[in-house]
Amino acid sequence: MSGRLTGKVALITGAARGIGRAQAVRFAEEGADIIALDICGPVDTVVVPPSTPEDLDETAQLMVAAGQNVVTEIVDVRDADQLQRAADRGVEAFGGLDIVCATAGITSRGMATELSTAAWQTMLDINLSGVWRTCKVTAPHLIARGSGSITLVSSIAGLRGLLGVAHYTAAKHGVVGLMRSLANDLAPHGIRVNSVHPTNVDTPLIQNAAVAGAFRPDLDREPTRQEFAEAARTMKHARHPLGATGRCRERLPVSGLRGGALHHCGHAARGCGQYTAIAGRRFRKQAGSETRAPCSRTHLWPRSSPNDHSSETRGVRRWEWCA
Ligand SMILES: NC(=O)c1ccc[n+]([C@@H]2O[C@H](COP(=O)([O-])OP(=O)(O)OC[C@H]3O[C@@H](n4cnc5c(N)ncnc54)[C@H](O)[C@@H]3O)[C@@H](O)[C@H]2O)c1
Repeated sequence: MSGRLTGKVALITGAARGIGRAQAVRFAEEGADIIALDICGPVDTVVVPPSTPEDLDETAQLMVAAGQNVVTEIVDVRDADQLQRAADRGVEAFGGLDIVCATAGITSRGMATELSTAAWQTMLDINLSGVWRTCKVTAPHLIARGSGSITLVSSIAGLRGLLGVAHYTAAKHGVVGLMRSLANDLAPHGIRVNSVHPTNVDTPLIQNAAVAGAFRPDLDREPTRQEFAEAARTMKHARHPLGATGRCRERLPVSGLRGGALHHCGHAARGCGQYTAIAGRRFRKQAGSETRAPCSRTHLWPRSSPNDHSSETRGVRRWEWCA
């Protein structure tokens, strides 16, 4: 069956599970071959249960089930040499590269003034510098093709401040700055760079005792899945007590990203359709968690062009008008 990414090759970090695996599955369903990278092990200062080599194998099996080829490598995005070798080997196996998703990421918690130096540095090293390293080692392969798409996975924490995760928020905002500069650097080579900003997505990153507990600090026990879901919906403890209380429509299942952010990644690589010229944009998948505009001039939001059918694109334009 011919898909929208037939003949394309995608490299994805953090592909053993969660959003990275969902990207890999979606792209494979559309006909892409996949270079799937992940650390598959624990990271100091992180209490979220780690992914495993078996998780990465399972991703590979899903690629095969979708009829696509896959190369997997256990790689730490903090190690530039490892990353370079893995990217080069994957590109050699498939003969080129078209799509890059810098998705690997961690979470941990702590008030800004109480974070340990190790927690701060590890966060920045993976969630920001790891994204930069991924771009650095893969960009030459895209340049060699003369086209391509890089998608950096940020977060709603890359659009506004969240409580108790200053290091995560700083890294995810940093990803936006990197994306904007990289979009300019790589535009002459026909390569587009964008960031996606998911809200709470039902993956192991948040579906664990540490994160669920942080969403319900009023309880002296681990919240039930239902209690966590309700807290995630209101984001009550994720913002300043005096701040706005926008409600999150729902916690997105991983598949909830398919219609939007993943769709943009795919179109980006194909270089056709309405997304051909989109670069340097932030695609928000916030499910209503960011319902208030950053300024009061909401009545000045411009109308989208008649050719623009992308709600994400309209959202970005609105944001930029007000920012
Ligand atoms: N789940 C959410 O609610 C949510 C919301 C917004 C943004 N995000 C972002 O989406 C991305 C994916 O998160 P997820 O929810 O799928 O989490 P996840 O924990 O399920 O998956 C993250 C993957 O990244 C890998 N990884 C971590 N450190 C690595 C390293 N140093 N080198 C290589 N791989 C490494 C992990 O092993 C894991 O397989 C992250 O960047 C995260 O910050 C997630």
